[in-house]
Amino acid sequence: MDRPYIICHMVTSLDGKVTGDFLFSPECEKATEIYYDINRNTKADGFICGRVTMQGSFTDGRYPDLSAYEPRKHGCGLRMDFMTDDMTGFYAVAFDPKGRLGWKSNRIIDPDGDPGYDGAQIIEVLTEQADERYLTYLEEMEIPYIFAGESEIDVDFALSKLKNIIGIRTLLLEGGSIINGSFQRADAIDELSLVTAPVVAGKEDKPLFMNSNVSNFELIKSETKDGVLILNYKRK
Ligand SMILES: NC(=O)c1ccc[n+]([C@@H]2O[C@H](COP(=O)([O-])OP(=O)(O)OC[C@H]3O[C@@H](n4cnc5c(N)ncnc54)[C@H](OP(=O)(O)O)[C@@H]3O)[C@@H](O)[C@H]2O)c1
Repeated sequence: MDRPYIICHMVTSLDGKVTGDFLFSPECEKATEIYYDINRNTKADGFICGRVTMQGSFTDGRYPDLSAYEPRKHGCGLRMDFMTDDMTGFYAVAFDPKGRLGWKSNRIIDPDGDPGYDGAQIIEVLTEQADERYLTYLEEMEIPYIFAGESEIDVDFALSKLKNIIGIRTLLLEGGSIINGSFQRADAIDELSLVTAPVVAGKEDKPLFMNSNVSNFELIKSETKDGVLILNYKRK
């Protein structure tokens, strides 16, 4: 396989939603605890999230102020990937096509120091839409970046680079709905790890996969714990 093995790990409502207020309801507390526990105990080289999820969880909604940075021009007008010398083997991969995430550090600083997230080396996946000043900003922050697409991120291309350039073998895909949908449409999800809370979501909340295609999975394990359903599926 010319890409990392992908395990999509998510908390869902009873009606298969993954965003919205239900995530912060008392009925979802146990599911969230179990979710983080599974995240810590799954052997993966890191996790991957969409720009919105990264912004909500790790950058406090900050946008970078690019006014102080010069555009980073590469030779022949080509955009080139950027790596650092101290790649750690534990990664936080951000799908950030336009370069909008305002990181404070090149490592994830988890507010609770959760070892499932804390200290992960950030990797930005960008498209040609990213401002060249954002590249300078990332290089000064020592944040590696790769390019994968014109305006949409080409999931196959991004994953092949993550495997072949960085050496990532297994990743937890941890939402939200939009990035999950792009992986599902690219047929790039090998396993599903779903933690289902006993609560129904609101009508505006988003499904596990936004804009999904029909695809088949096989149930390989099911378990209940503290009123929470834990399901594992493999792609057929
Ligand atoms: N239930 C759970 O376990 C769980 C886990 C994580 C997050 N969440 C929830 O999910 C919510 C966010 O989900 P979301 O669906 O709105 O957003 P998301 O998937 O986190 O991020 C979507 C954004 O990521 C970028 N992106 C993702 N895939 C892309 C692709 N293939 N090509 C180009 N760009 C791509 C785009 O950024 P641009 O907009 O910059 O173009 C897109 O708008 C949060 O509120 C969070 O609470 C739930």
